[in-house]
Amino acid sequence: MISHHTSIPPASTDGDAVTVRLGRRSYPIRIAPGLLPRVGQAAGLDPTSKIAVVSDKNVAGIYLDRLKKALRGFRVETFVVPPGEKSKSIPRLVELWNGFLTKRFGRDMTVIALGGGMVGDLAGFAAATFMRGVRLIQIPTTLLAMVDSSVGGKTAIDLDGGKNLVGAFHQPAAVFIDPTVLATLPPRQYRAGLGEVVKYAAALDKNLFIRLERRSEALNGCDPEILTYVITACCRIKSRIVARDELDTLGLRALLNYGHTFAHAYETADDFDSLLHGEAVTLGVIDALRLAERLREKDPRFAAITPKLVDRQLALIRSLGLIEQLGPERHAGRWNLRFLMGSMRRDKKSVAGRARFVLPTELGKSTVVSQVDPEDVRQVLRRRLAR
Ligand code: GLY
Repeated sequence: MISHHTSIPPASTDGDAVTVRLGRRSYPIRIAPGLLPRVGQAAGLDPTSKIAVVSDKNVAGIYLDRLKKALRGFRVETFVVPPGEKSKSIPRLVELWNGFLTKRFGRDMTVIALGGGMVGDLAGFAAATFMRGVRLIQIPTTLLAMVDSSVGGKTAIDLDGGKNLVGAFHQPAAVFIDPTVLATLPPRQYRAGLGEVVKYAAALDKNLFIRLERRSEALNGCDPEILTYVITACCRIKSRIVARDELDTLGLRALLNYGHTFAHAYETADDFDSLLHGEAVTLGVIDALRLAERLREKDPRFAAITPKLVDRQLALIRSLGLIEQLGPERHAGRWNLRFLMGSMRRDKKSVAGRARFVLPTELGKSTVVSQVDPEDVRQVLRRRLAR
């Protein structure tokens, strides 16, 4: 078992910038309502900068003109890919590489990823590899990308055999987050992002959890003030973890994967079809909690995971509309226990064929465990499949 029992200091609302401290590769995450029209100045780009904006059709339809206006005076070319996970593919990556070449971009170019997690990962990997790596700026437009995937430098594409199987660490030069763009995010995507927010709070930040409980109504109404607070809090947690375990080798960054062992198995069983990543994470957070509750009798580390604490966490998930949104029964009926168990063992995060779980030890704290009795996992899965 790797023990990285940790507690991340709570976030505050002072200012709108969080710094990811990585020495010479440190970068700011700027978070402010109304930031998108100002990114040209905020990025401090050289006047001769050549910029490739990568986006998807949906996001480009709403925000591309606004971004281009903000970048007036620079040489900007746009590359728009179809929306959806299927674009995180080898053919789309090759199209970007060739597109950059055709437009005569070189090592001095800047790639701007304008979109959700798919765009950030694909454009990020193109930036990581084109000419052995060029400058990248992330402008996330989904809640999930704002709180998680745009920060920390993980970039990837998918293979037929699974998600994110080919990728690179490539830290952005800056991340610009304008929470007001969430107003046009489809409600289902917004709720999926809230699943990742609950993940941070439950696993790493008790104060954030309490804030979510108190302000669930404002969050349900997409209030920009609470969203700015919440996104800042999540980025602050993530930036501290990335600064200490950039390459995900110490087991600390793994804490960001709370709920993800179950979540990835559900996404695989679902063939990445109808379940959004954040929705799978919500199911995974619930099931990791249930697994820790089962282990309470056997392992003193989980003594605090009482039925009362489990109910409290489920109540927050419910109050944010995540359970109703999911209709988990719809998915689980088609899943199969053996497949899910096998999928967890094959996960990138497994060690020597044993699934690795991030489990809660108390509210806002968690630990990585790789020695869980498969029978306990099966019991949790049986409960999920019985729904
Ligand atoms: N999303 C988990 C990580 O960035 O490490």
